[in-house]
Amino acid sequence: MLLSGRGSNFEALAEACDRGEIPGRIVLVVSDVPTAAGLEKARARGISSKVIGAGPRATRVEREAELAVALAESRVDLVCLAGFMRILSAEFLARWPLRILNVHPSLLPAFPGLHAQEQAVRYGARVSGATVHFVDAGTDTGPIVGQAAVPVLEHDDARSLAARTLPVEHALYVSSVRRVLEGGWRISGRSVNFPAPGLA
Ligand code: GAR
Repeated sequence: MLLSGRGSNFEALAEACDRGEIPGRIVLVVSDVPTAAGLEKARARGISSKVIGAGPRATRVEREAELAVALAESRVDLVCLAGFMRILSAEFLARWPLRILNVHPSLLPAFPGLHAQEQAVRYGARVSGATVHFVDAGTDTGPIVGQAAVPVLEHDDARSLAARTLPVEHALYVSSVRRVLEGGWRISGRSVNFPAPGLA
């Protein structure tokens, strides 16, 4: 799990693993921000955590080399990003094809990048939501694993929309990680096709 901040999506995934809703467990939490609350949440759960690439001095090549070693040492099968604010290089991503997921707080391809909820409110969208997608070299452009809609209400601001969206993100990320780890899915063009329930 890679994060830069609060770590609420990490907690939702960790709790789902504990409840047996996800066929896996979180073995490592990595952050580029030493003070990220998500790191403390990992420690409190007894999950290994590491700070990699903090500060301006480390180059991207150095950061990603260290990250690759940490992921390999922890024998990670799937990498989940949640509020991870570093761009991963195409070279790094190529080593993890269809094995890195991200959660984004909008219905992609609408409102990619930073401040998605603010973008949705400013645009006047009536429906926004959350997307879980595989990570490719673009910004929030990878194949979509799951989406869930959230209404944008009159008088919403970025903060109120984000608060309404967050629990939807949590549930979506849990169900998406479960479906990815259960396997049996195929990529066709940009579409991720999952087996029908009961046929997996
Ligand atoms: C979440 O809302 C996530 O969707 C967003 O950062 C927040 C992290 O919260 N990510 C992005 O905006 C990525 N472009 P968390 O640390 O509590 O999981």
